[in-house]
Amino acid sequence: MKGKETKYIKIDPADPSKGAISEAGTILRNGGLVAFPTETVYGLGANVTNSEAVAAIFKAKGRPADNPLIVHISDVSQVYDLSDDVTVPAQRVMEAFWPGPLTVVLSKKPGIPDGVTAGLSTVAVRMPDHPVALELIKAAGVPLAAPSANTSGKPSPTTAQHVLQDLTGKIDMVVDGGACRVGLESTVLDLTSEPPVILRPGGVTRDDIEGILGRVEMENSAGDKGSLGTPRSPGMKYTHYSPRADVVVVTGEDYTVIFEKVAELIADYRAKNQKAGVLASTETARGYCSDEVFTVGSRARLETVAQNLFYGLRYLDEEDVDVIIAEGYPESGIGIAIMNRLKKAAGNKVIYI
Ligand code: TXA
Ligand code: MG
Repeated sequence: MKGKETKYIKIDPADPSKGAISEAGTILRNGGLVAFPTETVYGLGANVTNSEAVAAIFKAKGRPADNPLIVHISDVSQVYDLSDDVTVPAQRVMEAFWPGPLTVVLSKKPGIPDGVTAGLSTVAVRMPDHPVALELIKAAGVPLAAPSANTSGKPSPTTAQHVLQDLTGKIDMVVDGGACRVGLESTVLDLTSEPPVILRPGGVTRDDIEGILGRVEMENSAGDKGSLGTPRSPGMKYTHYSPRADVVVVTGEDYTVIFEKVAELIADYRAKNQKAGVLASTETARGYCSDEVFTVGSRARLETVAQNLFYGLRYLDEEDVDVIIAEGYPESGIGIAIMNRLKKAAGNKVIYI
């Protein structure tokens, strides 16, 4: 699609104040849209105080209007400009995990444009742990409302190239700061209820949060095996992380059994003249008879699996497979977030064996 010119710049995370970061900041301050790296995934930023800029985010992504945005800040003190009720538990998790992959949902201060919060009385805030993101927010001089920088429904982008694939011609600039370290979006923690509730599992785990706050709950749609239920985080109800290809997840207690089932499915699809791509772990990848195997990492290091998951989904999709068969992982620690994203990508087509 021919649209506006999308500028591409590279910023060295080791020296982010150099180069075109101030130009990116100026574009943002003046109401433009700039995609930028964070430690989780790339975000698509807009000046939080500018309703038109915020509306443009929804248009560029094709995002439903009732799905609120996360506000990104570069200094903890900015949270007090966004909420009048930063409770003691909120302060404790902010201290423990910021900057980092935790988003806190707090009651919203008047004055934040309705578009940012989709009309809710709450606001989601996070301080990213990425030198380029922090420098960009400072350069803009305002907090940035920023969803993941993908077309709505697609897997979140973990490289600048992913952003360009989805949003070229629709946004003003992409700031390339390299690949994202976490690879999955932040944990969203609602602190307006007691006990607090994890609305979306992510880079900071339930165990991490319970280590600071004591018991927290997990929203039904956020990671259990049941149906999706009625989400409190509006974004959780939409189709997500979906490549063009169909996705099937095969999971269970024993990965050798997972391996056998995936191998059987590959053969079944081949018999139907369909090409299957596999999202595999290092432990199993070499055993599959398929031309398209993407290795996400070792089962002994689920952080690496998380880091490569969206990359792998996008990679296999580019290879034009008919179906992506993804191996499942144990649902504890970061494995909860990995399985949450895989199940959503699969539209709940999950085989438990
Ligand atoms: O890691 C991340 O969180 C990335 C990077 C760019 O920071 N951002 C991201 O944004 O994943 P997005 O828009 O793709 O997902 C935001 C999630 C959605 O599920 C949305 O519904 C939820 O946060 N959310 C935002 N504001 C909320 C609020 N006030 N109450 C409940 N959920 C909220
Ligand atoms: Mg998103």
